[in-house]
Amino acid sequence: MNNLPQRYGEYAVVTGASSGIGEQFAHQLAASGLHLVLVARGKDRLDALGKELTSRYRIRTESVAVDLFADGAVDELLRRTEHLDVGMVIPNAGNFVAGAFLHNDLAAELDVLKLNTSVPMQLAHEYGRRFADRGRGAIILVSSTVGAAPAPYLANYGAAKAYILSLGQALNLEYRKLGVDLLVVTPGPTATPAVANADGIDFRRLPVPMSAPEKVARVALRNLGRRGHVVVGTPNKFMDLMGKFLMPRPVSTKVYGWLIFRALDEDNRVLTRPVRGA
Ligand SMILES: NC(=O)c1ccc[n+]([C@@H]2O[C@H](COP(=O)([O-])OP(=O)(O)OC[C@H]3O[C@@H](n4cnc5c(N)ncnc54)[C@H](OP(=O)(O)O)[C@@H]3O)[C@@H](O)[C@H]2O)c1
Repeated sequence: MNNLPQRYGEYAVVTGASSGIGEQFAHQLAASGLHLVLVARGKDRLDALGKELTSRYRIRTESVAVDLFADGAVDELLRRTEHLDVGMVIPNAGNFVAGAFLHNDLAAELDVLKLNTSVPMQLAHEYGRRFADRGRGAIILVSSTVGAAPAPYLANYGAAKAYILSLGQALNLEYRKLGVDLLVVTPGPTATPAVANADGIDFRRLPVPMSAPEKVARVALRNLGRRGHVVVGTPNKFMDLMGKFLMPRPVSTKVYGWLIFRALDEDNRVLTRPVRGA
């Protein structure tokens, strides 16, 4: 991890840098000497983090406050970084909606799909081209253990994270030939604000221990350039294997559905037929 600037370039772009796993990526990359472009919606938090990282690690930071749900946000980010020697991008920002799919708000589910699939895909394409041109660079995509099998009550989010795993493993093979390292990291439940403040679900009810966000970032950075996919933590490795290989898909779907349903808040276990148009 010591020679990241030499291996890849001076700057890393981290989306969702102001909190949770993204914030830990920012700390660990700064400690390795990379300058950072910190991306999220809330500018104050980005600026405060930038200040902290600059004084602690003597690196440069830029805050890019954009809403990645919005059309044109990726173009804006590219424009704001085109003058920098960017060598790494981590499209980490993600969100989810928990509950019975038919009761969830469709606009919110469309945002989940965009932030967790098309935004990382666009960033992997745009920065991937730049990295391939210079023959070096690195991309880390963030999946989830709920992407290992169909995940009732987190159905759209789980499907989005399955897409990221599939996309990333395929791109790992394509990009490797061009000198670009691409890793997919799969965390299980991780103690971040997203989990602490989750609406309608309590992830602590799942029968796997919470990982620390520091660990997720550390495991990902340690495996970058060595492999295409890493699952964080032994219990999550087991969940991932179980979902993918140890059980027939209808069985793993039932198991995931049962586990996630039990984690839903009582008032979110609404499974009655929705009123047309509601
Ligand atoms: N925590 C877990 O248990 C867990 C497990 C598996 C996978 N993951 C994945 O890990 C990644 C990070 O999750 P986390 O738990 O660390 O999340 P988090 O603590 O909620 O942080 C989310 C970050 O994304 C930013 N963000 C959210 N919506 C955005 C938008 N529309 N545009 C720009 N930035 C936005 C947030 O800042 P603003 O609100 O200021 O925009 C924040 O910096 C996600 O991809 C998530 O799916 C998490």
